[in-house]
Amino acid sequence: MLVTNKDLMVPARKNGYAIPALNVQNLESLTAVAEAAAEEKSPVIMQITPSVIKYAGLQYITGLAKTAAALHPVPVAIHLDHGEDFDTAAKCVEAGFSSVMIDGSFLKFEENVALTKRVVDMAHPKGVSVEAELGKLAGVEERSVEEKDAILTDPDSAVEFVEKTGVDALAVAIGTSHGAYKFKAEAKLDLERLKSISEKVAIPLVLHGASSVPQWLVEKANQYGAGLSGAKGIPENEYRKAIALGIAKINIDTDLRLAFTATVREVLANSPKEFDPRKILGPAKAAMKEVAKGKMRLFGSSGKA
Ligand code: G3H
Ligand code: 13P
Ligand code: ZN
Repeated sequence: MLVTNKDLMVPARKNGYAIPALNVQNLESLTAVAEAAAEEKSPVIMQITPSVIKYAGLQYITGLAKTAAALHPVPVAIHLDHGEDFDTAAKCVEAGFSSVMIDGSFLKFEENVALTKRVVDMAHPKGVSVEAELGKLAGVEERSVEEKDAILTDPDSAVEFVEKTGVDALAVAIGTSHGAYKFKAEAKLDLERLKSISEKVAIPLVLHGASSVPQWLVEKANQYGAGLSGAKGIPENEYRKAIALGIAKINIDTDLRLAFTATVREVLANSPKEFDPRKILGPAKAAMKEVAKGKMRLFGSSGKA
């Protein structure tokens, strides 16, 4: 059943678990996530980026997501991830998304406030919840910055931002980055900063760039020809600490992509005569689904539907 991010995140923050926000891009990833949620009895956020909208088409991807939400007996939110401007957010609201992110993190503070407020004023009357971001993450996502330009979220600015915009959830920068190469040195989150933000900001907080980049997946991909040396993600024991400090939505894209691609490589390497797409994509979807279920268990959302 279709719900908003807010419906899912508020009880999550209150009760000390987090909702997996899993990026989907096509039929296989979407059904993998929906089936994982149904089997784990977990609420889930299916998130769709502007580049997925360009790739798949807004009507196609929204149609698939709405079908998944209608067919499965668990709460599902359809969320725009890293909405790049007002028009994209408005089109997604019109298409039937239940939640949108407006990512003004690359703007000056007051401009980010103004853009976010405009989206809140458009979305809230339609019952759609809004996520915004303060601070800048490094990484591979289209408008991520270079590592040297990453800016961690300032707790006092976060308070002012939430008050001025009325957003439902705030994405914070605490040392993560998008993609498979998050840390050159020791992998760690700025939990002190998160603590101080969560003491001042009561709305649910969101962790972007949160893949753990499991080494077994990297090794599997490398075994079948990928060249992913130095890939490193968030240590799995950090999630519990982040959730205890107010993180109620955890964004995962890279780990799902790794699971999918490593399996496509494996199938093609082991069955070079195979050319039925379903025989190649089916196992890849199954691998993605297992990773999605693992996140639900790890973040404590399993059994919460
Ligand atoms: O932060 C979001 C993604 O990991 C990047 O997604 O390649 O679909 O824009 P994209
Ligand atoms: P990862 O690249 O760590 O999976 O992050 C995904 C994300 O933040 C999507 O918004
Ligand atoms: Zn992100």
